[in-house]
Amino acid sequence: MSMNIVKKEVYRLGVIGYGGMASYHHKRIPKPEGIRFTAAYDISEARLEKAARDGLTVYRSLEEFLKDETLDLVLVATPNNFHKELAIAAMEAGKHVICEKPVALNSGELEEMIVCAQKNQVLFTVHQNRRMDADFRIIKKIYDENMLDEIFRIESRVQGSRGIADTWRRQKQAGGGMLYDWGVHLIDQILYLLPGKVTSVFAEFQYLGGYGVDDNVRLTMTFEDGISVLVEIGTCNYIMLPIWYVCGRKGSAQIDYWNLEGRMYHLIDNDIKFEDEIPSTLVGPSITLAPRASDTMEELPLPKAEVDEGFFYKNIYRVLRGEEEPAVKIPEIRRVMQVIDLAFASGRSRQVIQCEV
Ligand SMILES: NC(=O)c1ccc[n+]([C@@H]2O[C@H](COP(=O)([O-])OP(=O)(O)OC[C@H]3O[C@@H](n4cnc5c(N)ncnc54)[C@H](O)[C@@H]3O)[C@@H](O)[C@H]2O)c1
Repeated sequence: MSMNIVKKEVYRLGVIGYGGMASYHHKRIPKPEGIRFTAAYDISEARLEKAARDGLTVYRSLEEFLKDETLDLVLVATPNNFHKELAIAAMEAGKHVICEKPVALNSGELEEMIVCAQKNQVLFTVHQNRRMDADFRIIKKIYDENMLDEIFRIESRVQGSRGIADTWRRQKQAGGGMLYDWGVHLIDQILYLLPGKVTSVFAEFQYLGGYGVDDNVRLTMTFEDGISVLVEIGTCNYIMLPIWYVCGRKGSAQIDYWNLEGRMYHLIDNDIKFEDEIPSTLVGPSITLAPRASDTMEELPLPKAEVDEGFFYKNIYRVLRGEEEPAVKIPEIRRVMQVIDLAFASGRSRQVIQCEV
């Protein structure tokens, strides 16, 4: 994507929507010296007062905020349904834009945003920060270093038992629901991990909380090389399943939950001798699925993975100076949105959808 490069030592960032995530950007996400978070616009007086207490210049009008010539970069961190119109307004004002996830509600909205970025020759990217989460980096290392041999199945899930938070996240018109909220992260991780095309999508949605937005999602993606991926998000799970379960021809890996505990088993010897008599277990007889001899595989700790929480803004600084490509690129953003569209379409039709994404 072509963009106007103006080399500066310091780029100033202003946010539209100074809520929970914007405040996290301001205070918690490491930024290089060359990115200064300086201003906020919000429709909530309480949030503007908070922004002022946090040392930001505050604006009560979007027009005034966008007229601030000291601002090079705008972060859009409002509820999801406003991302498109606000990102477009910022780009039309000549600002580079980082949009919070999900970038938009569908591919049609996203295409309008991309056209606008191209017309104004500005950076347009999405904060897909979970590419740097420790659990995902472990799985990426296992995949990249071929630790399990050919991987044929991946399960990625997040589960809780508290329903959806009592905010816009419960509202359909605001772009609430768990596919947009967490699904977008898990899909982005998978598409970033696996090089092949997605050839089919099937999704099931449940609406247990009665809010009218999906609070339980199971999405299956098949890839052209045969890898089958399950992405699952639950908000009514009093017992949680592992966040990652990965199967390769010569091993399996599992990460249990947020504390990153887990294990990896690796095959030593596949010269299996099946018993003459069918083994009996507490749940009945089984020859095929009876446990293998413990000395034919070894248990290994999960690998350690490097995590750099500052990766996103370091990259933004270098992109603005023309020194690097964006870490989160337009074709990647497009693919994630296409899978989300297909998942919703599959949920409505209850059909597997063949595709090439
Ligand atoms: N990348 C991540 O890990 C991550 C984590 C949490 C949230 N998010 C995303 O960040 C965005 C904001 O989520 P949040 O949890 O901070 O929500 P929030 O409700 O805490 O904050 C939203 C803010 O936007 C303001 N707002 C609403 N409509 C507006 C408008 N039209 N113009 C200007 N301001 C407006 C609200 O007053 C509020 O201050 C969402 O898109 C969400 O998906 C991303």
